[in-house]
Amino acid sequence: MASWLGLFGHVFVALTLSLVPASSQYHHVHGCNYFEGSWVLDNSYPLYNASSCPFVGKGFDCVKNGRPDKEYLKYRWQPNDCDLPSFNGQDFLERHRGKKIMFVGDSLSNNIWQSLTCMLHSAVPYSEYATSQQKQLFTFSFPEYGVSVIFLKNGFLVDLVKEKVGKVLRLDSISTGDQWKGVDVLIFNTNHWWTHTGRSQTWDYFRIGNTLVKEMDHMKAYKIGLTTWGKWIDSNIDPSKTRVFFQGVSASHIVGKEWNDPKAKDCRAETQPVEGSKYPGPKNPGEDVVKSVLSRMYKPVYLLDITLLTQLRKDGHPSTYTGAGSAFVDCSHWCLAGVPDTWNVILNAALLQK
Ligand SMILES: *[C@@H]1O[C@H](CO)[C@@H](O)[C@H](O)[C@H]1NC(C)=O
Repeated sequence: MASWLGLFGHVFVALTLSLVPASSQYHHVHGCNYFEGSWVLDNSYPLYNASSCPFVGKGFDCVKNGRPDKEYLKYRWQPNDCDLPSFNGQDFLERHRGKKIMFVGDSLSNNIWQSLTCMLHSAVPYSEYATSQQKQLFTFSFPEYGVSVIFLKNGFLVDLVKEKVGKVLRLDSISTGDQWKGVDVLIFNTNHWWTHTGRSQTWDYFRIGNTLVKEMDHMKAYKIGLTTWGKWIDSNIDPSKTRVFFQGVSASHIVGKEWNDPKAKDCRAETQPVEGSKYPGPKNPGEDVVKSVLSRMYKPVYLLDITLLTQLRKDGHPSTYTGAGSAFVDCSHWCLAGVPDTWNVILNAALLQK
């Protein structure tokens, strides 16, 4: 344990001895915080009809899976102090002519990736598109615009490797970063795999350097892993060529008393958001880890700080409408059309700011 702490101490010292981080530009810009606001009904929503988006995954296509209530499709995120620019898919494609946009992360990256492909396809329904898959890399492209929208599945960002002892999560190692190079817009996310325990945990050991550890606080491990990612960005990204985003922690709705409804078993009976701009439940511990790591980075990373706006959407999950039978309840991902469309509206707004 001592050498373990020693290693962590070493990482920390290395960080504090370097230059003072350039800024805290990871957060809001131009005096308006897009991430403080509330959900309002808007009849112009949803932004697309999922049934005209043939590539929505079965698990997210709630209408098709028989979800009877429809109001959840009608909510628009309204920041308190400004309006978000509306999303114009054709303009987005023009602005990104010849560019690559890549989402790297877990299934919530898949969720936002699918959302963006639908938002773009519905804007230019007669423009041809192509899809391809190579292992964990899913590419959606519009040849007419030369735009690729890519999802690279990667649960932890750091390496998970098979060693003799079993599956080892190497907190200080990223060997797949070459796939992130040469991309114009990168949107990273990792969180929920780190919180898994017991049978849903996908690793047997943690490793830093020569030190192998069976168990440690998962949020501590998350912080070390995310710091490794931050160092990769700091050493490999040229901000004049690549915009980097981090997709913050997305909320789950498993425990009804968090939103003051102790009778609710989980998200399954929810048809409306939490009103207002405050979530009554506890803070997600991953949020502070993300903010702390980003604040110590030197290269600019824009935090898509979606935690509050997702916490308020207890109604937005596939719930029992995943297409996998009503015994399966998903209160972590999001229906499409739905909440991830708003993440892309904000992503677009951030890309419009220079
Ligand atoms: C979505 O498209 C389907 C099939 O084209 C159509 O039946 C349905 O009414 C549309 N839904 C909305 C809300 O427009």
